[in-house]
Amino acid sequence: MRTWLITGANRGLGWHIAQAAIAAGDNVVVTGRTQANISDAYRSHDTSRVLTLSLDVTATDQIQKAVDATIAKFGNIDILVNNAGYGQLGPFEDNSASDIESQFATNVFGLFAMCRAVLPVMRNQRQGHIFNIASIAGLAGMPGASVYCASKFAVVGFSESLAQEVAGFGVQVTLVAPGAFRTDFLDDSSARFGSAPLAEYEEFSSKVRSSSANNNHNQPGAPEKLGQALIELALNPKAPLHFIVGSDAISLAETRSASRKDELQRWRHLAVSTDA
Ligand SMILES: NC(=O)c1ccc[n+]([C@@H]2O[C@H](COP(=O)([O-])OP(=O)(O)OC[C@H]3O[C@@H](n4cnc5c(N)ncnc54)[C@H](OP(=O)(O)O)[C@@H]3O)[C@@H](O)[C@H]2O)c1
Repeated sequence: MRTWLITGANRGLGWHIAQAAIAAGDNVVVTGRTQANISDAYRSHDTSRVLTLSLDVTATDQIQKAVDATIAKFGNIDILVNNAGYGQLGPFEDNSASDIESQFATNVFGLFAMCRAVLPVMRNQRQGHIFNIASIAGLAGMPGASVYCASKFAVVGFSESLAQEVAGFGVQVTLVAPGAFRTDFLDDSSARFGSAPLAEYEEFSSKVRSSSANNNHNQPGAPEKLGQALIELALNPKAPLHFIVGSDAISLAETRSASRKDELQRWRHLAVSTDA
C-alpha cells in the first residue's frame, strides 16, 4: 500500500487524482487551503486511509506540519503530487508586480517548499516519486498567459534538473504537462486576471476573457482519466520524466518541437559561428 500526499486536493485535478489513489487502495493525505473545504470534499471516506489537512502551499509552517502529520499517521510518503496552482491570466502589462509575485508564490515557490520538506523523507526511504503538475503552458508560450506560462516553465526547468539530482537516492520526478482539462481552472473561483488593466490591451484582454469563459468547464480533458493515468505511473521505475497528457497537449508539443527544430536548422550557421 502506497502513501500519497496531494496539494490542492479539495477540487479539480487534485481531487480526481486523490479519488483514483483511494480507489487503488492506497493511503492518501489530501490537503486544501481551508480545513472546512477539504473535510467536506472527503467526508464520506474511510478516515483510516484518508487524512485531510489544511495546507496553503505559500505557508511554510503549514507545509512542515502537514509532512509531520503524514509521517505520524502513515509512517512514510511514497508519492508527492504538487498540484496546487492557478492561472494568472491577461497580457503581461495588465499584471501588477503583486499579481506576478502571488502567482510565483503558489505555482513555483510553494512547489519548491513542498519538495524541500518532502525530499528528506524520500531520501531516507531511498524511494519516492514526485509528480509536479506543470502544464503544456510550461512547454509552449501562449499570449494572454505570459505570467502563468513563466511560472510553469519554471516548474519544468526545476523538475528536469531535480530529477537528475535525486535519481541516485531512488527518487523519481515526473513533470505532468496537461492540456485543457475540465476543472475550475478557468472559472472565476480560480483564474485571476491582471489587476492593472491598460486601455491599449482592452480588445485583446476581452478576447482572452471571453475565450476563457467559453472554454470554462468545456475543456476536452477528463480529469478522472488523468487521475487514473497517474496511478499507473506512480513508482513505476520506467515512468517518464515528461508526461504530456491530453491530445491537445500532444499536438501542441509536436507543433512546437517541429517549429523549434526548423528554427534551429535555419539559424544554425549563425549560431555556430560564435564558437572560438
Ligand atoms: N485544468 C487544466 O486545464 C490545467 C491544465 C494544465 C495544468 N493545470 C494545473 O493543474 C493544477 C490543478 O488545477 P485545476 O485544473 O485542478 O484547477 P482548480 O479546479 O481551480 O483547482 C486548483 C486547486 O489548487 C488549489 N490552490 C490554489 N492556490 C493554492 C495555495 N496557495 N495553496 C494550496 N492550494 C491552492 C485550489 O484551492 P482552493 O479551492 O482553495 O482555491 C484548488 O484546490 C494547477 O497547478 C494548474 O495550473 C490545469
